Amino acid sequence: MSDNRVSILASDHSTSPSSQLGFGVDIGGSGVKGAMVDLRTGEFVGERHRIATPQPATPDAVADTVAEIVDHFGWTGPVGLTVPGVVHERVMRSAANVDQSWKGTDVYALFGARLGGRRVTVLNDADAAGLAEFRFGGGAEVSEGTVILLTFGTGIGSALMYNGILVPNTELGHLEIDGKEAEHRASAKVREDKGWSLEKWAGKVSRVLAHYEAIFSPTLFIAGGGISRKSQVWIPELTNRTPVVPARLRNTAGIVGAAMAVDEGLVF
Ligand code: BGC
Repeated sequence: MSDNRVSILASDHSTSPSSQLGFGVDIGGSGVKGAMVDLRTGEFVGERHRIATPQPATPDAVADTVAEIVDHFGWTGPVGLTVPGVVHERVMRSAANVDQSWKGTDVYALFGARLGGRRVTVLNDADAAGLAEFRFGGGAEVSEGTVILLTFGTGIGSALMYNGILVPNTELGHLEIDGKEAEHRASAKVREDKGWSLEKWAGKVSRVLAHYEAIFSPTLFIAGGGISRKSQVWIPELTNRTPVVPARLRNTAGIVGAAMAVDEGLVF
């Protein structure tokens, strides 16, 4: 436990004397969202605060928005942040659906400096969701084997856990299947753009999952992203041999996972 954490626990942010609080920020294409998190339960403490992502969504502009969100809560402790790209050795290495200027940015230096030099952890958005789902959600009962969480949104994000350990930056949404990237075949955005029914879209998802099954032989898939709310319609349509369960944490998973990651001192 860091000194920061001790001072936070002593502050009036805590709901009970024993609560362990963390803070996570989820940076997305349309919104930047932050909340205080009870790290024992994976639940938000109070409301989440959302600010529309500035346009253009350059690193500096987004860092200002992040600082505004953190200040909104008066939070002074470590901050975990998610970004929609690869984070390797503290640098963002890809920018598939975000401003290209993120590529090559030292995101730890960027957010650390903008947040007054405090400790930060920056990680891929789907990896953060995977950490949270594995601890508190649909993967919590599985302790062995390979579990793959997929987030279906603008793209397809992925988190791969083996025996409970995250293998970061798997980027399975960019795997090419029959000459086309998985996320160009079966993201939620592709379904919207094409006007497909959930049933038709499920056929495309089955094809993508079959490819992942052939490579990883997973024990379980967890389906996240907004479309997991309609999982009772499309999950039964899937034709894969591996069980698929909906994410339980819904749109809180990124924030919760980011808060967990910085609390555990993870660096990506
Ligand atoms: C990005 C991933 C991200 C996913 C979901 C993909 O296009 O490459 O890094 O996790 O979208 O946001």
